[in-house]
Amino acid sequence: MREFECFATHLECSATGLRYPADVPHGLSDAGKPLLVRYDLAAMRRGISREELGRRAQGGFWRYREMLPVRHSANVISLGEVVTPLVAVPAAASRYGARQLLVKDEGRLPTGSFKARGLALAVSMAKGFGVQRMAMPSNGNAGAALAAYAARAGIESWVFCPDDTPEINVREIAQAGAHVFLVNGLIDDCGRLVSAGAAKMGWFDASTLREPYRIEGKKTMGIELAEQLDWKLPDAIFYPTGGGTGLIGMWKAFAELEAIGFIDCRRPRLVAVQAAGCAPIVRAWQQGRDHAEPWRDAHTIATGIRVPGAIGDFLILRAIRESGGFAIAVDDEAIAQALAEMARLEGLSLCPEGAATYAAWRMSLAAGQVGPEERVVLFNCASGLKYPMPPAGRRIDLRRPVDFAAFAQ
Ligand SMILES: Cc1ncc(COP(=O)(O)O)c(C=O)c1O
Repeated sequence: MREFECFATHLECSATGLRYPADVPHGLSDAGKPLLVRYDLAAMRRGISREELGRRAQGGFWRYREMLPVRHSANVISLGEVVTPLVAVPAAASRYGARQLLVKDEGRLPTGSFKARGLALAVSMAKGFGVQRMAMPSNGNAGAALAAYAARAGIESWVFCPDDTPEINVREIAQAGAHVFLVNGLIDDCGRLVSAGAAKMGWFDASTLREPYRIEGKKTMGIELAEQLDWKLPDAIFYPTGGGTGLIGMWKAFAELEAIGFIDCRRPRLVAVQAAGCAPIVRAWQQGRDHAEPWRDAHTIATGIRVPGAIGDFLILRAIRESGGFAIAVDDEAIAQALAEMARLEGLSLCPEGAATYAAWRMSLAAGQVGPEERVVLFNCASGLKYPMPPAGRRIDLRRPVDFAAFAQ
């Protein structure tokens, strides 16, 4: 693979602004906050153009190499990433009197979720640093992506999941050779296990936002979306928010894209969607707080957004406020109903987290928080096929006469 220029200059503490050197492994800053990668944006502006990107047909998000921190192509770990489609859902839009509704379907990525973006970056960076063992807590999709990319990189991986994580994810993680554990707790309990065992087990902690490069991968959702819409961002983005990396990453992407002259200063409103059974960000947003109190007794069928406390809470809340957006919670019944409705209306199989964004959009539309003329993008972050579905299919007994008239009943 050819080499690309890399414009990463340093990392910066997201709370204090303190600088840290690039090209060495990092966890959190000394202040215990996430580190963000910073670039020489003036040089990036000279080094890459929209036209040049347009000529790159292959490579999925790796097409944006100059905007990413991986310096050497030899370290790129790829499983054949694709540009995920922006699927118009006109029947769903017109049902609620809206002009246009789009779904960014991240389920098409390797391992069936957007976690491929972040973990491809984290594992590629780890490979460059010579890391041999990575560990993380996961509600399923992230663990599956870590296991797959780590397998390809020849890195050992260890994944700790809540014990009700969808079975398919757990098996997928094991299939890729990771050590997978089921824990009788939630993702924050799993995270504490990783922190506690890291030194003893020689693990590099790849937890969301404790590791600085996953967010750089997630940021490519924002770049890709902008490019797909001819560098004009939508009016609003509804995003299923757990740890918030996607939201924070896209907000970072938009700032960088503006600095390099790819987009103007117009930004979409960011809408953080959470489940009513676990909505720490929504509560903090409603109370006008900068940080979110951890949510007790978290429960929802949308396991990917069952995150009681996010280390990047202040960054999520800041991005929502700066964008003029809002945070909204939807209950499990609305999620299940939205999932079924989208499948029947549009043939699109959403994951429960993605369905939560559809339910939230409908609620926001009814409440006048978004207008019917607004161009809205919903994020479906994983394939609906990775989740349990209700049993279906009527039986036919070939030993008896077939009663076709009864089929329609
Ligand atoms: C399908 C799905 N949607 C949304 C999320 C939340 O993503 P983020 O951590 O970017 O908030 C997750 C995280 O596990 C997920 O698996």
